[in-house]
Amino acid sequence: MEREKFGSRLGFILVSAGCAVGLGNVWKFPYMCGQYGGAAFIAIYLVFLVILGYPIIVCEFAVGRGSQKSCATSFRKLEPKGRRWHYNGYIGMAGCYLLMMYYTMVSGWMLYYFFRYLTGSLTSQSMTTEQVSSYFSNMLASPGTMILFMIIAVVLSFAICSLGLKNGVERITKVMMICLLGLILVLAVHSCLLPGSGTGIRFYLVPDFTAMQAKGIGNVIFAAMSQAFFTLSIGIGAMAIFGSYLDKERSLSGEALSITLLDTFVALMAGLIIIPACFSFGIEPDAGPSLIFITLPNIFNQMTGGRIWGALFFLFLSFAALSTVIAVFENIISFAIDLWGFPRKKAVICNVFAI
Ligand code: ALA
Repeated sequence: MEREKFGSRLGFILVSAGCAVGLGNVWKFPYMCGQYGGAAFIAIYLVFLVILGYPIIVCEFAVGRGSQKSCATSFRKLEPKGRRWHYNGYIGMAGCYLLMMYYTMVSGWMLYYFFRYLTGSLTSQSMTTEQVSSYFSNMLASPGTMILFMIIAVVLSFAICSLGLKNGVERITKVMMICLLGLILVLAVHSCLLPGSGTGIRFYLVPDFTAMQAKGIGNVIFAAMSQAFFTLSIGIGAMAIFGSYLDKERSLSGEALSITLLDTFVALMAGLIIIPACFSFGIEPDAGPSLIFITLPNIFNQMTGGRIWGALFFLFLSFAALSTVIAVFENIISFAIDLWGFPRKKAVICNVFAI
């Protein structure tokens, strides 16, 4: 069967960047910066992107393009006879399924919060901090709500994949990523213009190595390294498939550089949206994973037009999450296509149930 191809180079870059840009950039990166000392953490993270992240993306693209397969069968095709490289394929497949097991759930949380901002039920200046935080704990205590929104995220993403690489994945991800980049700029400018945001910008951009020492240098280095892996979706073969759709004329190192830069840009901008806003409203940015679900809604409630800013913010998070879900689903679907020769629609249906 002829390997599908992207319709344009921009499509390839935005879909691959969409695979990388996700909750790791917009949810995890800002709270890790808040917890691990701001700019000092960012400096170490950038070093790991250069020495590990970027070279590994190039390798994954090379494996995909060389084999013209997803990670399910790429190593089997490329390895010399009698070698055991193909075991990597099993690790990659397990990694993609494991990632999606919790990722689709958190993506559902983003859709839920977006929906709540649209309907206005989370924006009221009279809401106390306790009420906002109980909103989050109530959602966590309601499996029905979480499962419903997770199913919406899963079905929507598989439906897009079922339309094919060019007409589904590429067309929709392109639109989402362009909207995401637009939303980022609007939200970051708004955040940096808030009164008192300067202290937050300094915390974010000027390294404070003493704060890092307080957390334990080993812990910060480990967190920065794992974040560099997570944010680029490397180590689970998720990027390899996009190499398999790439023309021979393209330079793998050039394309990998564009994707690494775009991913880093989104992560840095997400921090620039969140951290100055925290300082502007006198809130410590070290709340951890609940930062965007409790701290930020409190901030939106105090802002003029908080409902609109909140809705735009969670729309931005939803786009980031869904661009990754769609890209990893494309991998998951192609495992069935490459391993058993399933047609795309059959691979989609089987995986909707598997996920
Ligand atoms: N790379 C994806 C993210 O950052 C997994 O969320």
